[in-house]
Parts: sequence; structure tokens; C-alpha cells
Amino acid sequence: MNRTFSIIKPDATKRNITGAINKIIEDNNLNIVAQKRIKLSKEKAEGFYVIHKDKPFFNDLIEYMTSGPVIVQVLEGENAVDKYRKIMGATNPENADDGTIRKKHALNIQENSVHGSDSNENAIIEINYFFNENEIISN
Ligand code: CMP
Repeated sequence: MNRTFSIIKPDATKRNITGAINKIIEDNNLNIVAQKRIKLSKEKAEGFYVIHKDKPFFNDLIEYMTSGPVIVQVLEGENAVDKYRKIMGATNPENADDGTIRKKHALNIQENSVHGSDSNENAIIEINYFFNENEIISN
């Protein structure tokens, strides 16, 4: 049993497909054990994506991530990090496998509907960036 961190991004909240995305997550035996709908401030978004601060897409990414509501959530299950990454599909939806969230719902490499942690270490850091332990309620 382990945990990963998930964001449903502004392109998805705007299109009313948060339920469709979470159905895919839950159908794959990941439990949503914490969840908040928030609007990211510029500072919060920049802090979250600090590892990308020198990338050419950084400013566009921050503008996009602050353009509308996001759902931040904690997923729990066996091999949660790897399992959720498989369910999301490749960052660029053009390269995503059939049946993945990004193949089905993402618009392009930036507006790619979801974020997921890339390692157990980063999952802990990302979860703690948004949640206190007492906000995470296992099934
Ligand atoms: P995410 O998995 O949240 O990590 C960084 C985000 O930057 C990525 O999803 C996309 O939303 C966005 N992004 C925009 N352009 C690129 C790019 N060329 N490569 C990777 N990520 C990109």
C-alpha cells in the first residue's frame, strides 16, 4: 500500500470531466483518500513546479495552472505511484497509450488534464505541499 499525489488540471475542471477522470482512477483500484478543489496562486504554482523553473514552458505552465480551479488529491493503493502513472499515460497525449486518461481526455502536452508524482519520494513532498496528515482519510 502506498500513496501518490494527483492534480486534475484547469483544462479538465473547465470541461466538467473531473468525475470521468476519477472514475478511471477508482476503476483501477486506487482510493481517493484526500481531495480539495482550489485555485492555485502564482506563488503556490511556482513552488510546486520549481524543478521546471528553467524550462522554456515554465511561464506558460504557471499561467495555465492558475487559469482556473484544480482538484488536488491523494491516491492510495498498491504501487500507487507506478499504477497512477500508467493510468495517466505519457505527458504528451499524442504518445499516450489507448485507455489512458491523457489519451482519452488531454488536449495537448501542456493542457494534459492530470499530474501525478514520478516517485515515492516526490509523492511525499507533493502530498505535504497541499495536505496535513489529518486531512487524509484512508478507506
Ligand atoms: P506535469 O506532469 O504536471 O509536469 C510538468 C507540466 O508541464 C506537464 O505536466 C505539462 O502540463 C507541462 N508542459 C508543457 N510543455 C511541456 C513539455 N514540453 N514537456 C513536459 N511538460 C510540459
